[in-house]
Amino acid sequence: MRIGILGAGGMADALGTHWARAGHEVMVSGRDPGRSAARAARMTAAAGAEVRAGSFAEAGGFGEVVVVAVREAGLLGTLQAAGAVLRGKALVDVTNANPQEFDVTRSLARLIGDVTGGHVVKAFNLCHVDVWRMTPPVFDGRPLAVPLCGDDPDALAAVRTLVADLGCTPVDGGGLGRAVLLEATAAFMIGLWFGGADAQAVLPPLDSSGAHQPA
Ligand SMILES: NC(=O)c1ccc[n+]([C@@H]2O[C@H](COP(=O)([O-])OP(=O)(O)OC[C@H]3O[C@@H](n4cnc5c(N)ncnc54)[C@H](OP(=O)(O)O)[C@@H]3O)[C@@H](O)[C@H]2O)c1
Repeated sequence: MRIGILGAGGMADALGTHWARAGHEVMVSGRDPGRSAARAARMTAAAGAEVRAGSFAEAGGFGEVVVVAVREAGLLGTLQAAGAVLRGKALVDVTNANPQEFDVTRSLARLIGDVTGGHVVKAFNLCHVDVWRMTPPVFDGRPLAVPLCGDDPDALAAVRTLVADLGCTPVDGGGLGRAVLLEATAAFMIGLWFGGADAQAVLPPLDSSGAHQPA
């Protein structure tokens, strides 16, 4: 699949390198052509497969799937720079708001959909970039599960493939209206992690979750 990435930072690097290695065609993009080209060259060397660099509009036009991987501060400007090429495309939203300024009434995934007219799938926002660099992310013998929130069946199918290409397991998280819950979860968990708490320890295993028990 052709994957355009809006962004040439850590998340673009971690995810895009895996996908290039898995045989996808990848183009990264940023504000500074020299920085994007340097990133693409490092990814090419790491993946053993060519990664291209371009402008936001070029990466948006290149991708059958377009990954939105920029800081919130640059989000609107980036989407505007990519322009109309994003309309109707599968868009993977990995963004998070600054946890200190998180506003539950303002979903970045919803904003991306409204601004672009693309088919947004929220994914990959719950784990630190170093987790996405792992080959593969497996903890206690279990592959990392990646929840996806989106409405469009074709976009969801494409993102499930991209999750599997990382060695992870896709999990149905419901429609795009629930993406704000993934955003809130990230804000909450990041607060715990940075406070030194083991966020994984706050949830019981499935057997003790209360699900699947007779009423
Ligand atoms: N890092 C993580 O652990 C992690 C984990 C999950 C989700 N996320 C989310 O993923 C997104 C990308 O994170 P990242 O770690 O890849 O960030 P990063 O390394 O700082 O890269 C940010 C990218 O955003 C671009 N950008 C465009 N306009 C910008 C502006 N006004 N200010 C800052 N950057 C701007 C940068 O362009 P240039 O190349 O021109 O600088 C760069 O390509 C963010 O929304 C973040 O919250 C991050």
